[in-house]
Amino acid sequence: MSKKSPLVVANWKLNGGTDLIAASVASIRNQNFNARIGIAPPYVYISGLVNVLRNSSIMVGSQNISKFESGAFTGETSAQMLKEVGCDFCLIGHSERRQVFLENNQSCRTKVERALVAGVMPIVCIGENLQQYELGLTRDILYRQLHQTLDGLDLTGETLCIAYEPVWAIGTGKAASPEVVAEVHEFIYQELDAILGSAANEVNILYGGSVKKDNAAELLAINHVDGLLVGGASLDPEHFAQICAAANQVES
Ligand code: 13P
Repeated sequence: MSKKSPLVVANWKLNGGTDLIAASVASIRNQNFNARIGIAPPYVYISGLVNVLRNSSIMVGSQNISKFESGAFTGETSAQMLKEVGCDFCLIGHSERRQVFLENNQSCRTKVERALVAGVMPIVCIGENLQQYELGLTRDILYRQLHQTLDGLDLTGETLCIAYEPVWAIGTGKAASPEVVAEVHEFIYQELDAILGSAANEVNILYGGSVKKDNAAELLAINHVDGLLVGGASLDPEHFAQICAAANQVES
């Protein structure tokens, strides 16, 4: 089975600081990764991280962007600003943003459009919650999240990433089983194919939710798992480096 070059992204959420930047950069910057690696720190650390990663292939991204372009929107940061300070990608629609900040597919769609115009690669996060999972609604939820966010947008595969993060697997220590991941990633791929046609082959579909150094290789071996979105384990630089190393082993 041929796989595309994986992408491993650290989502620090509301954690980290200059110490974590120094330790993380030290543990990965001099390794030769074939896999693409990205780090999404809190906004205030983006410029600093971009600076220390100059001349490195490690990408820097944000955990969110504003749905607005500019103007009287206190506390917001636009896609254009993120591009200007060196962001390569941004997370959009993380489940914590959907739950805590009431984001929905419509706001995610606007954000994807903003990101594309600015030239920042959107990583659109999708996933069902525990109740939806138990009711067998996973496909319905993902279908709506994908189609309402992406239908009709001017997309090519390389400018887009999808991250499947079942809400019940985030921060619980219980990743989705390989069987569930395989089934859901196949479904996501089929829907992307319906939306994008052959460009779907260029989209990296990441898995996120309790990814650890011990399960990374198993998850990455699954068909249509083209990378990982890592929360808690990315706050331990050694663990994150081992997850990146596991991605390096994926044969393309
Ligand atoms: P954990 O890896 O801590 O489960 O978090 C996953 C996540 O939300 C990454 O975006």
